Parts: sequence; C-alpha cells; structure tokens
Amino acid sequence: MLFATKDMMISLTILWLVLVTPCSSAFWNTHNKIKTAVYYSPAIELGPGSVSNKFYYDIEFPRGHIALKVFTAEVVDEAGNPVPLHQTYLHHWVVVKYYESKSKLTTNTRYDLHRVLHVSDSFSNSHIMKRNSGICQGNILGQYYGLGSETRGTNTDIPDPFGIEIGNPAKVPEGYEEKWLLNVHAIDTRGVEDKLGCTECRCDLYNVTVNAYGIPLSPSYEGGLGCCYDQTQCRLKKGFQGPKRTLYLRYTAKWIDWDEYVVPVKIYILDVTDTLKISDTSSIDSSNHDCQIEYKVDPCNSESKKDIECVDVKRTRLPMQKGGYVVYGVAHQHSGGIGSTLYGQDGRVICTSIPNYGSGDEAGNESGYIVGMTTCYPKPGSVKIFDGEKLTMESNYSSTTRSRTGVMGLFYLLVAEQLPHEHRT
Ligand SMILES: *[C@@H]1O[C@H](CO)[C@@H](O)[C@H](O)[C@H]1NC(C)=O
Ligand SMILES: *[C@@H]1O[C@H](CO)[C@@H](O)[C@H](O)[C@H]1NC(C)=O
Ligand SMILES: *[C@@H]1O[C@H](CO)[C@@H](O)[C@H](O)[C@H]1NC(C)=O
Repeated sequence: MLFATKDMMISLTILWLVLVTPCSSAFWNTHNKIKTAVYYSPAIELGPGSVSNKFYYDIEFPRGHIALKVFTAEVVDEAGNPVPLHQTYLHHWVVVKYYESKSKLTTNTRYDLHRVLHVSDSFSNSHIMKRNSGICQGNILGQYYGLGSETRGTNTDIPDPFGIEIGNPAKVPEGYEEKWLLNVHAIDTRGVEDKLGCTECRCDLYNVTVNAYGIPLSPSYEGGLGCCYDQTQCRLKKGFQGPKRTLYLRYTAKWIDWDEYVVPVKIYILDVTDTLKISDTSSIDSSNHDCQIEYKVDPCNSESKKDIECVDVKRTRLPMQKGGYVVYGVAHQHSGGIGSTLYGQDGRVICTSIPNYGSGDEAGNESGYIVGMTTCYPKPGSVKIFDGEKLTMESNYSSTTRSRTGVMGLFYLLVAEQLPHEHRT
C-alpha cells in the first residue's frame, strides 16, 4: 500500500522553482531558454534496515511540448541535506511516462505494481504506459530515466541540439493526458549486520521466503529484488536501535521549449540478461526478448585461478531494428561492477562505461559504492548503428569468494535518427 495520498504528495512538494538561463548554443534560436525545476518526491519513511519501494503516480514534472535536456536526482533528508549511500542505499529510481484517461472513474485507485521494472501491459483501462523505444519485452525497462547508487556522479546532459521530446499533444491519445510515475527503491542500512548483503538483497538477511505477491521463492534464489520488496527488513546488528527518518528523492529537470531546431533522440535500454535468440534467417520479433533485469555473479573458484584476476564476463547479442547516431550512452552496474562495453556487429566499440567508486564518507564519495558511471558523448554523426545491426553487450564484474546477487547490466542509449542538417530539410 502507498501511504501517501495525492494531497500529501502535492503538499510535500516543498520546493518548485524555475530558473531561466540563456542557452549558449548558437544552433538554436536565441529565444529558446533552458528552464530548470527542482521537485521533491513524496516523503519516504525509513527505519534502520527497512526497505521502501513505492510508486508515486502523477508526479510533478515539466509540462508542455518540450525537450528534456538533463535529469538528476538525489536522496535528501527533511532539511534538504544529501544522505550518503552507507545510510540509505538508493537501489534505483525510475521515471515512467503514462497516459491517463481524462474521464477516469478511478481517480483514487492505486495500481500497486510493486515493481515498475515489471510493469505489465494490463496497467488498466484508464492508464496506458508509454514505454521508451525498446528493446525489452512488454513494458519491462520502459522508463525514460532511471539510475541507482551512481545517480549523483553520472552525467545526464543531452548535448545540443538534441533532446527527449515529451508533451507533444499530437502524440497523446484522444481523451488522455500525459502523466509521469516515479518509483523509488531505497534501503536503510543503518545498523545492519551486512551492508553489502542488504544492498544485494540477499534473501537470508531479509528472512524472506515468499515474494511480494506471497509466492514461494525458489530455494536456489539467493537474492535480488524478489527478497527486498517494500516493507521488508534487513537483519540488524544485535540490539541496534535508531530513529525513523523521513527522506525525499529530490529531482531536477532541465528543458527547453520544443521547436524545429531540436533534433529528437530515442531512448533504448539494453539488458545483458536478455536471452533473445537470434538466427540470421528469422526476422526480429521484439516479443522474443526476455530481459531478466538482474543476474547473479557466481563465486570465483580461487583454487583454479590463482594468479588470474577473477572477472565475470556476461555477454548478449541483440539486434537493433532501427539504428541511428549515438548521442549518449551509459551503463548501469551494481557494486562489484568493473565496466561494460557495447560493440557493433563488426566489433567496433560503440560505448564503454566504467563505474567510479567512492573512497570517502560523504555523500557522492561513499567508499565501496559506485558513485558515478562514465558516459559516452560521441561527436554527432561519428558513431552510427545500422538498421538491423546486431550489437554485443558485455558487462564485467569482479568475482569474489561469495556470489553477488541481484546485480545488473544495462546499457542506456540515446539515438538520433537524423543529424541536425538532415533534420532541418
Ligand atoms: C524469520 O521468519 C520466520 C517465519 O516467518 C519467523 O518465525 C522468524 O522469527 C523470523 N526470524 C527473524 C530473525 O526475524
Ligand atoms: C571485460 O572483459 C573482457 C574479457 O576479459 C575484456 O576484453 C573487456 O575489455 C572488459 N571490459 C571492460 C569494460 O572492463
Ligand atoms: C573522497 O574521499 C577521499 C578520502 O577522504 C578523498 O581523498 C578524495 O579526494 C574524495 N574524492 C572526491 C571526489 O571528493
């Protein structure tokens, strides 16, 4: 259940400001100004060891026909101070677009989806989820934005003259409105016995044997989102007590008004667990995708690999039905990740994204956590994916004497189907 009503949600949006700064690009007409707004999610209540994984519907979001340029976020406390990951681990947040019927009979109905990463197509008759351009099955990984612990240190800027088009009234189905859904999954690790284990959602630490729907988990399932759902509790050190806290996801959007000079980019998210079977003869059918979102890194057999650094390499080969020019790329990994690369069919590197680990204590530099991912900004036009090209995605983790559970290997790509000079003809 969500504890926040819509009214609370609005009143808890304690800050909303729009700054207008001139746009520096000579490409654009000078009337097009970058606008910035800072918003707060509804309150997230967390006690030591507890998990919050909630879905906030109809969140504050930029409105109008615009091009999104930047989207950043961080977890803050009631005073607005950044909260470090070793206190509250930000497992993920995602922002999803949906259309809501204006003639809704269901104003106060909440569709408790539990896991937005797994939003089903049967959202309801009054809601239509509008996923990104692909490439997982159904609505899986259909978000526009979303990151995890690396949020503070990962660049999301979209270079000029590109942008993510939203709010185009011509694209909203008749009788519907465009809305946005935010899912925040946070784990309070103050006082827990095993911080890394809690962030890896190890089932034994959560004392969980059934999933969020009450269905028994397979005994071979050691950990992952199935064991750290909303309201679960990770094991604390004996006798630890700490106060409950009220936190928020503070998110910042930057955008410009849409005009004919903005070149739209499409959003793709590739998942290294996608087991799509491709043969060279069969046509590509997107329904054959099978993104699992998470996977497990097996322990390293140190006996047999004495001198070799133990690296777990996971690969998958995925066709892109439609290609284009890569404008931006970034991978998503969890602790233990050491980098991810996307290769073209001929083996050329499309993008390599490497995690940065913190080495201190303060928010944004937490030792042992991924605090940022490097990003790719190829010179527009220089990195092209061809229609139907089969890409290879590779996600590397260091492996240790114990398994890593619930790890991820995603690649988020922004692709322009035209270049600026082509776009304006
Ligand atoms: C774990 O769960 C079982 C069954 O739900 C319960 O009996 C037991 O007390 C729990 N253990 C802890 C440490 O919470
Ligand atoms: C991942 O591992 C493979 C195989 O060892 C290696 O060729 C590749 O360079 C690694 N990539 C990254 C980003 O670490
Ligand atoms: C992180 O903290 C360490 C230890 O205090 C410090 O040496 C390092 O410069 C910090 N890094 C950043 C990016 O602030």
